[in-house]
Amino acid sequence: MPCPGEAPEADSFLIEDQMQQNEGGQRELFNTRLGFILAAVGSAVGLGNMWRFPYVASEGGGAAFVLLYILLTLAIGIPLMLSEFSVGRGSRLSPIGALRKLGGRRWSLLGFMYVLTGFIILAYYSVIAGWVVRYCIDGILSGFPSAPGDRFAQVTSGWPPVWYHLFVMGTTTFIVSMGVQKGIERASLILMPVLFGILILLAIWAATLPGAVEGYGFYLRPSVSELLDPRILSQAAGQAFYSLSLGMGCMLTFSSYLSRDTDLNREATVIAFSDFGVAFVAGLVVFPVIFALGIQGDVSESTVGALFIALPGAFVAMGTIGRVVGILFFVALLVGAITSAVSLLEVVTSSVIDEFKLPRRPASIGAGIVIALLGLFPAMSLSILSVVDKLAEAMLALGAFFMAVFVGWVAKNAADELRKGASERSRRMIPAVMVAVRFILPPVILVVSIFGFVAVWRTYLAEFGG
Ligand code: PHE
Repeated sequence: MPCPGEAPEADSFLIEDQMQQNEGGQRELFNTRLGFILAAVGSAVGLGNMWRFPYVASEGGGAAFVLLYILLTLAIGIPLMLSEFSVGRGSRLSPIGALRKLGGRRWSLLGFMYVLTGFIILAYYSVIAGWVVRYCIDGILSGFPSAPGDRFAQVTSGWPPVWYHLFVMGTTTFIVSMGVQKGIERASLILMPVLFGILILLAIWAATLPGAVEGYGFYLRPSVSELLDPRILSQAAGQAFYSLSLGMGCMLTFSSYLSRDTDLNREATVIAFSDFGVAFVAGLVVFPVIFALGIQGDVSESTVGALFIALPGAFVAMGTIGRVVGILFFVALLVGAITSAVSLLEVVTSSVIDEFKLPRRPASIGAGIVIALLGLFPAMSLSILSVVDKLAEAMLALGAFFMAVFVGWVAKNAADELRKGASERSRRMIPAVMVAVRFILPPVILVVSIFGFVAVWRTYLAEFGG
């Protein structure tokens, strides 16, 4: 029976906090608001912003895609992030336990699906992060190649991508096994602004390129017919979930380490806008470069390769400065990728810790090894990687759909949870957020996930010629 007033609830949460800490102190706690923001932005900002956004946007019709993307971030991304926050902070548990606690046994299945999604995404995410490692080494040792298309083909075939993937998984597992420590938060604090600074410099430079106008034209001119295409709507929404790390319990897990005086609404807004800012500026760099070098053809042949072909080409064209900027860019990208990979492994690890009562070390190492093995497939085949990338997006959409249904219709106290710690202005937003979560998100996201699975099938047919 829910009692009026919050005191008994607060007490039970206090007891729970102590229990969590007593269980060997496995669960990390954020001590500061900045720590949480950085971890969440570190999770959100990654390959999705700088690699995936430009390529998905170019597949989805450029400008129409960007416009839809902003709308969807506001109308769906933020309410969904708040939904995950309400479940995570409301239960202070990792996804499986959180959903079981608030929704019963059946809903804990959704938690298992989230963990599975974590496995799938990290398996190929670390392969791409491995390419980034390779490009960093290239830049440092020999400079960027003058034939970037050929180099991309080399980097992604044979055994090298396997070794680099294993290296990234090793690093990620090491960090997670140590806990999401201050080191990573501090690194994000320094490197995220560096990354943003570099991107802005690159965007200014890209504006002077001969192909800039054409590139912007493709990137920013809205075309109404594309806006009405449901496939593009679904891609834009899928990308939004991907980029914001939504639909697999990542934000849920992070928010389970939050105190009740945090204004969830404000945090969600900061995270969403930082994430969009990075993706948008990445597009301002990539599109002019693609058009200046006249490599639209290459890019559409190998969409996943857009960043890895276009940017090294640009860095070569910039001479010595290009080499320095390029190295910084790829190093920063790697940091973004690693912080995201850490958050993915953290979802799996925290669930294994809670469900099997294992200490953090064996839990993270076990999960890391299984994911590393799973990643051998996308490491060895670009076709598998393309299919898995679409699968990731579809699964995130499905996960997001169930999250919206859960928070909108099953969990009773989401609005109360959002109200805790909220400012006056944030409080005024809550009714609108709840209306969106109940009535807008479920139907829209259901359509998105159906389209997502259709895209998986299409990509499968395209890649394997079935
Ligand atoms: N948001 C990350 C990116 O943009 C990817 C990610 C997805 C991370 C889901 C965690 C969970 O690169």
